[in-house]
Amino acid sequence: METTWSHLTVLLTEAVQALSINPDGHYVDATFGRGGHSRAILQRLSPQGRLTVFDKDPQAIEVARQLAAQDARVSVRHSGFASMAELPPASVDGLLMDLGVSSPQIDDPARGFSFRHDGPLDMRMDTTRGQSVAQWLETVPIPTLTEVIRDYGEERFAAQIAKAIDRRRQERGPVRTTGELAEIVAGAVKTREPGKDPATRTFQALRIFINAELEELQEALEAALHILQPQGRLVVISFHSLEDRIAKQFIAKHSREVVDRRVTFAAPRAMKLRALGRVKPSEQEIAANPRSRSAILRVAERTHD
Ligand SMILES: C[S@@+](CC[C@H](N)C(=O)[O-])C[C@H]1O[C@@H](n2cnc3c(N)ncnc32)[C@H](O)[C@@H]1O
Repeated sequence: METTWSHLTVLLTEAVQALSINPDGHYVDATFGRGGHSRAILQRLSPQGRLTVFDKDPQAIEVARQLAAQDARVSVRHSGFASMAELPPASVDGLLMDLGVSSPQIDDPARGFSFRHDGPLDMRMDTTRGQSVAQWLETVPIPTLTEVIRDYGEERFAAQIAKAIDRRRQERGPVRTTGELAEIVAGAVKTREPGKDPATRTFQALRIFINAELEELQEALEAALHILQPQGRLVVISFHSLEDRIAKQFIAKHSREVVDRRVTFAAPRAMKLRALGRVKPSEQEIAANPRSRSAILRVAERTHD
């Protein structure tokens, strides 16, 4: 089903600039969404240029396939972006990851990402495989649930929320909808953060967990080192501190020369990336698109190791 919801691309100009596009090059858009970044990349590519796009989401892939049907430079992969590791080594001139969920995913109650609209408690980006949040919540032990809500939501009331979910499933059966979950969480969170719904952190945690977002990001970054050519650009846009920490630490780790102090006069092992900086959305962009406010773009260049 095609939706009427659209996605306002975040840091569009900045991301495309950061890729420093070679018109004949091969680029990867690891998170196609509705193709905002992809279309801007295509505008800068010559007829010889190529763009490979990934997304887990079947609706995003449908849009990507429509684009590929009109533009032979585009190849589409319906899979998690960690599978970019399958691309040939040093075959890519630039890689963009615009992490997290798209507006069409959040805005469509049927996808179960949002506590603002009631819908089935799903939250899978790829609805063709895996367990929904509702299915997972039916049997997950309390300590595991507490850990997920605490670690991925940075939620102080994780233990209370996990217990409240457990009480509910014992007394009235499984939690089925986003509205039910939001209500249970609101009852367990004692202090409200100004301007934040009490369910925000729990929904973020469950979404990150059910989609294995952080594990897949880590794997994809490792894959990026393998598939980027020397001077190829890595551009990562993140929307919360857990993602940004992974991108930042990965770039920092590979931007250092490693000296083995046990070996006298050993040459330092070459660094694999050169960190080029960090960009945040302008005030105008945040005013026009409040969802961009937490975005941070990091850019690095593959070296010649
Ligand atoms: C913020 S949106 C991207 C929006 C896109 N840049 C645009 O302008 O339309 C993130 C997209 O990445 C996808 N996604 C998130 N994690 C993914 C992963 N591990 N593998 C593949 N796709 C993923 C989501 O399904 C979503 O469509």
